[in-house]
Amino acid sequence: MESNTSKMLLNEHEIIKTVEGTIYAMDLLWEKDPEKYQALVARMLYFFKEYSDRFHHYKEENVLFPEMRSHPNFTLHEIIDELEEHHKMFREYTREIKEAIENSEFKKSHDILKKYINDLLDHIAVEDDELFSMAENLFSESQYEKLFYQFKDIDLELGEAFKKELEKIPQELRDSL
Ligand SMILES: [Fe+2]
Ligand SMILES: [Fe+2]
Repeated sequence: MESNTSKMLLNEHEIIKTVEGTIYAMDLLWEKDPEKYQALVARMLYFFKEYSDRFHHYKEENVLFPEMRSHPNFTLHEIIDELEEHHKMFREYTREIKEAIENSEFKKSHDILKKYINDLLDHIAVEDDELFSMAENLFSESQYEKLFYQFKDIDLELGEAFKKELEKIPQELRDSL
């Protein structure tokens, strides 16, 4: 049975994943309406920074990954090293997209945005299909449940109402197309 701990991260993944369709639907929008394209990308980058990075990656980097690493029975440290590297690469992508937008290089920004979402979806698939089941096997039910409360504390600290607002952004982006 799926634990609350995995479920919380899986739910956040589901929300992040919905941005993919919008990115593809925005292809060539900059030729028709560059200002709208710019505004949509800016809003999307805000979502990635605040939701994907601040709410979601933070839980993995500060709770799940270190807890798995310090478990005596955990041996697959390379998978966590790799996932952490991805998080850094995602931050780099968002910087590059922002820079391309500022220079009005929209084809370039969109190419990076597509690469970013592809890599992000692959990363999410590894976590969904491999990492969470590893964690569920590694910890006892009560140990793993404790991580859920640490996740909850993070949400409370960053603001649960703010999180709910951020979760509306993917739909808002779809509606504005
Ligand atoms: Fe991750
Ligand atoms: Fe994740």
